[in-house]
Amino acid sequence: MSEQTIESILHEQRTFPPAANFAANAHIKSMADYKALCDRAAKDPEGFWGELAETELDWFQKWENVLDWQPPVAKWFEGGKTNVSYNCLDRHLTTWRKNKAALIWEGEPGDSRTLTYAQLHREVCQMANVIKQFGVKKGDVVGIYMPMIPEAAIAMLACARIGAVHSVVFGGFSAEALRDRLNAAEAKLVITADGGFRKDKVITLKDQVDKALADDAAPSVENVLVVRRIEKDTHMEEGRDHWWHEVRQGISAHCPAEPMDSEDILFILYTSGSTGKPKGVVHTTAGYNLYAHVTTKWTFDLKDTDIFWCTADVGWITGHSYIVYGPLSNGATTVMYEGVPRPSNPGCFWDVVEQYGVTIFYTAPTAIRAFIKAGDKHPNARDLSSLRILGTVGEPINPKAWMWYYQVIGGERCPVVDTWWQTETGGFMITPLPGATPTKPGSATLPFPGIQADVLDLDGNEIPANQGGYLVVKHPWPGMMRTVYGDFNRFRRSYWEHIAPKDGQYFYFAGDGARKDEDGYFWIMGRVDDVINVSGHRLGTMEIESALVSHPAVAEAAVVGKPDEIKGESIVAFVMLEEDYEAGDDLDKALKQHVVEEIGAIARPGEIRFSDDLPKTRSGKIMRRILRSLAAGEEISGDTSTLQDRSVLDKLRER
Ligand code: PRX
Repeated sequence: MSEQTIESILHEQRTFPPAANFAANAHIKSMADYKALCDRAAKDPEGFWGELAETELDWFQKWENVLDWQPPVAKWFEGGKTNVSYNCLDRHLTTWRKNKAALIWEGEPGDSRTLTYAQLHREVCQMANVIKQFGVKKGDVVGIYMPMIPEAAIAMLACARIGAVHSVVFGGFSAEALRDRLNAAEAKLVITADGGFRKDKVITLKDQVDKALADDAAPSVENVLVVRRIEKDTHMEEGRDHWWHEVRQGISAHCPAEPMDSEDILFILYTSGSTGKPKGVVHTTAGYNLYAHVTTKWTFDLKDTDIFWCTADVGWITGHSYIVYGPLSNGATTVMYEGVPRPSNPGCFWDVVEQYGVTIFYTAPTAIRAFIKAGDKHPNARDLSSLRILGTVGEPINPKAWMWYYQVIGGERCPVVDTWWQTETGGFMITPLPGATPTKPGSATLPFPGIQADVLDLDGNEIPANQGGYLVVKHPWPGMMRTVYGDFNRFRRSYWEHIAPKDGQYFYFAGDGARKDEDGYFWIMGRVDDVINVSGHRLGTMEIESALVSHPAVAEAAVVGKPDEIKGESIVAFVMLEEDYEAGDDLDKALKQHVVEEIGAIARPGEIRFSDDLPKTRSGKIMRRILRSLAAGEEISGDTSTLQDRSVLDKLRER
């Protein structure tokens, strides 16, 4: 976060209590209600979550034990059997919701589709049967690499239905990144599309899949299921690749949901950490389902009349929990949009809100800042009166952007819910409840009922109000990740031992700094590890560095984030070249393109600075703190006594 943002947040005093008429109709109507829920959950967490599991989910077999906690291993609802696809679809079919719109989809070229619960169920069953025909069994991993089309959600639900584990890879990732993720999870099947539409361009996803699988580089993959989207000639490998519209012919739309154990894996989702290798975050069936369900219901005060739109991509956790699983488990109408705002169409989001009468809108600060820049005329020219709640996620929101969102988009009528959470947490952790919590611009406010969050120092001691520290969670919750796929030690090390366990008490820590104010409100200060947040996308600096050094010209690279007015942070790479190479525009371009090929366009460095040397400690560690200051054009403050060669600083500054 920039100094300016921190400064404005530190002095933010405004509060916005919920309007009386909103509160009166909300699921959670007052701070007294909120506190009663928190007290109940603190005194009897198992009773609290057990009761919710009973009332909010359907079960084939009831659990025996709500929680078994052997830190850091949590088992929720053991002995129980349920199915997420059943909770998202089948149970609504016996109610009036059968013919309610489950999914409203708006395509980038302007095409659209609405699927009722009955229709979505049919599609999911058919795809589940096709997946089974490829020999995929319970516990097998299926890679999903899709544009934002209904089949992305259908594929996820189809996997969940038969107990296959899905691993969705964001469609903007490169062939290289896709291959790594398919190999790490040993995916047996890949579900993809010939392509999709992104920012006025056609992206040919299937070509990337072909590249990822070329030369048997992902040997576990036996079949590829391809959805037709762009109507272009597409190479289909005989025996391996199958068109969805062809293989579904004659396939039954009857496929009972497989009873799954509560702790069976539902999905893996790879995310960046502070090392070069992305982590496969593992979420399991019942706990995740319950947590996505309850957080959607309470934080968005979800009602049957709502049209709920989360603008994320299904390739990220936000899309998993708040486009697919949370809304559908609640029987809501969820909107999926293939487009993203771009200079040629800065009002496209507001068109969607107006056209479908969206009532709950959930997006990222980076998008809000881009809208501010594009001008009020775009939202002002549309009818946004259907909106009743606005949400934000992904990065700290500066008070100026919060106020604009509240005033210009929400007409000072809609509560703004700033939701802090992570891939690892499965759902919201710190968030207002819109009928109860007075909001403060820039603060994610208070923990969700049942979540014991705090700000501590490295030894597990509480930090006084208004001082920065590490944001931790002190008690397990149903939506928490269970492990890093294939690497339990990494899970323990990265999340549960960073803050020293104290008297048998373990603290979950996943990389954010925060402060609590005198009212106990949380103000997220951003990552404190080597993870940067570019336009709400989480990227490990070491991943980008590894991509750079895999280019023959690069001897060494160090990547840092630099404050950016729109994106939150932009990527600056300091690069030392091998002897035979010369710095210049061509190499600058080539290296940026190389990162795009290795990871994807989201990781393209905004700036490359060529350098003969990098600031290192005497033990050879790159001093990123110094590089961050240099990138931001700030004076270098703090201790530089451990620097091996002080003249490096002057050289880097001269540039
Ligand atoms: O730094 C925090 C930031 O996003 C990180 C999690 O990224 P990811 O796992 O990709 O999930 C993004 C969507 C949940 C966090 O460690 N972050 C997320 N939400 C907020 C946030 N920072 C500040 N305020 C938020 N509301």
